[in-house]
Amino acid sequence: MSELSRTTDTAPGPGDSPVRFGVIGAGFIARWFAQAVALEPAARIVTVTSARRERAAAFAQEHQVPYAHASLEEMLAAHGPDSEAPIDVVYVGSPNSLHAEHATAALEAGFHVLVEKPFALTAGQARAMVKTARRTDRFLMEGWLSAFEPGVARVREALGRVGRLHRVVLSKEQFSSRMEAYRAGHLPPAFDPALGGGSLMDLGIYTVNLAIHLFGEPDRVTATGKLLDSGVDVRGTVVLSYDSGESAGLEVICLHSKTSPGTESTFASDRDVVAIDDCQWPERIELRGPTAGRSTGEGAQAREDLSVERGAQQPGRQLIYELAEVCRLVRAGARESDLHPLEHSVAAIRVLEEARHQVGVRFPADSQD
Ligand SMILES: NC(=O)c1ccc[n+]([C@@H]2O[C@H](COP(=O)([O-])OP(=O)(O)OC[C@H]3O[C@@H](n4cnc5c(N)ncnc54)[C@H](OP(=O)(O)O)[C@@H]3O)[C@@H](O)[C@H]2O)c1
Repeated sequence: MSELSRTTDTAPGPGDSPVRFGVIGAGFIARWFAQAVALEPAARIVTVTSARRERAAAFAQEHQVPYAHASLEEMLAAHGPDSEAPIDVVYVGSPNSLHAEHATAALEAGFHVLVEKPFALTAGQARAMVKTARRTDRFLMEGWLSAFEPGVARVREALGRVGRLHRVVLSKEQFSSRMEAYRAGHLPPAFDPALGGGSLMDLGIYTVNLAIHLFGEPDRVTATGKLLDSGVDVRGTVVLSYDSGESAGLEVICLHSKTSPGTESTFASDRDVVAIDDCQWPERIELRGPTAGRSTGEGAQAREDLSVERGAQQPGRQLIYELAEVCRLVRAGARESDLHPLEHSVAAIRVLEEARHQVGVRFPADSQD
């Protein structure tokens, strides 16, 4: 697999112009995206649209975006290759339930697409999006930032040292400010089944994507979860079982919750453990056991610090590696990422769909497949 160095080589060369983005959404993630673009010379935002005209206009003013549109149709029509302000890539930062529709509309209009996680709500939608990208010959990728993180590259290296894994526990849990709004009687998008909300789709996706990134698609999925009155899940567990292939015998236990603080994630072989502080963007990474002892000379109880300096919480830093890689790929004429290929995004949605059905979370999109 490619390593960190290739994700950072995006400085424009002579004659290279920045990759031009149109943004859908003016909310939380669109702000992170704009802050990352401000730090990335290879990228520029040309235009934005949002559900409400005034939100798009305010976003454009705040982030010095030259154009704002009242609808996606208007934005796509205004920024074609022969227009006065063409764009190359549409960044889909709208609610989960609109990812498939918005990504498909942008691909059909001839643009490359970076669509936020989760890629889609159903496996049927995910497969159709990939088909559209292939037919229109455009770049398509799910914005799962972890694939491009230096901490995940470090984990890949560490796992190569510890031998066969038996048990992996991946945790993505955080108390959500939107939980407070829900308890106060509101229905934020994160807890609205009509918008594809819930803990599995919002946080469980990080654990499932990481498992598929490292070990491929599991053979069996077993899920439990706690439902809110709104009909979405607020926390739960997904067990991914690997019965065959290189990872035969491995169980990955995915913990996700919007009502608890996070815990560390661990990868265990017979004698060694790799522990990480967070499975979205690992920074504190530790190898514990005899393999660490071999390099430190300390024996079986040894601990080797494999941490990376990341600064993910600083404005603009969150999406910086993902954005750099998308710019590099689009400039190179790629149609997907080899680090986070489309078949992984489809597999993750298949797993999440199965988990949702076992837990009892249904979306309107389920009856459209
Ligand atoms: N990669 C990450 O780390 C990360 C982190 C957070 C979220 N996300 C993902 O990002 C997506 C958005 O989440 P968020 O937290 O940013 O939500 P948010 O703050 O509610 O923002 C959603 C935005 O979508 C806009 N929108 C809604 N319907 C639209 C339509 N029909 N056309 C155009 N725009 C529309 C809203 O417009 P108005 O503002 O005009 O109402 C709003 O600006 C979700 O899929 C989420 O999973 C990813």
